[in-house]
Amino acid sequence: MTTKIKLFIPGPVEVSQKTLAAMTGPMIGHRSSDFKALYRSIYPGLQQLFQTKQPVFISTSSAWGVMEGAIRNLVKKGVLNCMCGAFSDKWFDVSKRCGKQAAALQVDWGQPIDPTAVDAQLATGQFDAVTLIHNETSTGLMNPLKEISDVVRKYPDVIFIVDVVSSFSALAIPMDKLGIDLMLTGSQKALALPPGMSLFAASGAAFERATQLNDRGYYFDLLEFKKNAEDFMTPSTPTIPHIYALRSKLEEIFAEGLENRYQRHVQTNRVVHDWVNANGFEFFAKDGYRSVTLTCIKNNRQIDVAALAKRVREEHGFQIDGGYGKIKGKSFRISNMGDETVETLKALLAAMTATLQTM
Ligand SMILES: Cc1ncc(COP(=O)(O)O)c(C=O)c1O
Repeated sequence: MTTKIKLFIPGPVEVSQKTLAAMTGPMIGHRSSDFKALYRSIYPGLQQLFQTKQPVFISTSSAWGVMEGAIRNLVKKGVLNCMCGAFSDKWFDVSKRCGKQAAALQVDWGQPIDPTAVDAQLATGQFDAVTLIHNETSTGLMNPLKEISDVVRKYPDVIFIVDVVSSFSALAIPMDKLGIDLMLTGSQKALALPPGMSLFAASGAAFERATQLNDRGYYFDLLEFKKNAEDFMTPSTPTIPHIYALRSKLEEIFAEGLENRYQRHVQTNRVVHDWVNANGFEFFAKDGYRSVTLTCIKNNRQIDVAALAKRVREEHGFQIDGGYGKIKGKSFRISNMGDETVETLKALLAAMTATLQTM
């Protein structure tokens, strides 16, 4: 039995020793000039990754904090929740729990959101916000963000809230150009940082909408984030170790080069896809809409997924995911996001092939 398990689950992903070491920087006061210098130092890199001129905020929470905060801060009349998997489905539930008027635009898991269906819903005039998950991690599906944003931009009063939790930094997502009003991500996916921190940016229209709502709360109040960020601070005491790690990761990202990084994700993803095809498996997500950061594999061979994952872990020290929610066992997932390379993926896939041959 191997003791060190390398993660190939779609979050949290493997965190490098370098990143972990970066977290052990000295503790500093969050109102100190040292902290402001730290936040200031990562700011241009974050704006570049978000492809925005808007402020980028650091939230000491997992992504759900910001996802809930976005609903509380930005939905006045009603929200259309685009739903195509476990996380996007849950956002509808969260919208209702926040006491908002919410409507479900549901498609089958594995299918993409249809831009014309979004158009038809927004044309009813019932909505002033839309939520979309760009990369549905539960099904390995990537929604047609450009086409959907073209639709949403036709409705200037509609705030476009986009979760790029498991796609951010693995491919170009031009927030300003697409007209995204709030874009958010988490630390434990392609950024390959430990869980516990989220990043998000918001548009002028989002700040304007927030001023019209009185029940924004405090911890995720957009206007508090904006006011504090003007002075390179956060509303409450942030997770400073994560910010050190983020600084280290941004240095790595820009040293590799964004295009190289994006290409690496395409290549590692292709290696997994080739393995799926070569081993008689199918993809869960529809052709043309498959994620470049993870692969959700349909268990059409009726293998014992739990046994496969257990044996790959115990005999080879690699952790894959045995499927999420209602498709657990009917699918399994392999992540290629973060620091992975063609070599690391090939090692995993060789282990999986060897295990399958003796099952
Ligand atoms: C696309 C997507 N959105 C949101 C979340 C929720 O993130 P967290 O559990 O870190 O709050 C996840 C988690 O896997 C996710 O994959």
